[in-house]
Amino acid sequence: LVLVFVLLGLTLRVDAILTETSEQPDLVVEVTGFQWQWQFHYPELGITIAGDPEDPPVLYLPVGRTIRFELLAEDVIHSFWVPEFLEKRDMIPGVVNEIEVTVDRPGTWVGRCAEYCGLNHWQMWFDVNAVAAPQFDTWATVTATQPQPVVQGRAQITTSTSSTAVPVTTPPPTVSIPPTRPSSTTSTAAP
Ligand code: CUA
Repeated sequence: LVLVFVLLGLTLRVDAILTETSEQPDLVVEVTGFQWQWQFHYPELGITIAGDPEDPPVLYLPVGRTIRFELLAEDVIHSFWVPEFLEKRDMIPGVVNEIEVTVDRPGTWVGRCAEYCGLNHWQMWFDVNAVAAPQFDTWATVTATQPQPVVQGRAQITTSTSSTAVPVTTPPPTVSIPPTRPSSTTSTAAP
């Protein structure tokens, strides 16, 4: 399974298409990496998803919409990585890196930190759940009514560098791979 996983990632990355950032993405997600987890903040929707190592977060995404990830690290350098469709992108304290993605089909994937960032680096993983746009809207409506965790500080940051759109072009045959825990992919996925 691990081998299949890795090969899939390589295949899809070969198909990645690089384009400019759009003027107006359909959705902005602020991704903050910290020792040792992730926060996903949807500023336009008033939603914040904060993970902890015992309860890693789910990154909900709508299929077919342009999604801009704004990446920031709280403490040390992390790296945002979903092997199937998001190339590694460093997250540097004090700097916002942007990357754009359009996911072309529903699916569940595992994302992780691809930069060694200290003792519990291996715990920095999350699930990605891409759903049809109407389903995403329903999720957003419901979630926005619930109490939100406090957003981690994003003060005194500068925007940005280049960005990249990486559409998922080739549907892998194994859409229903259960989320793979990082422990099983760490050895092959680590830089
Ligand atoms: Cu964060 Cu490795």
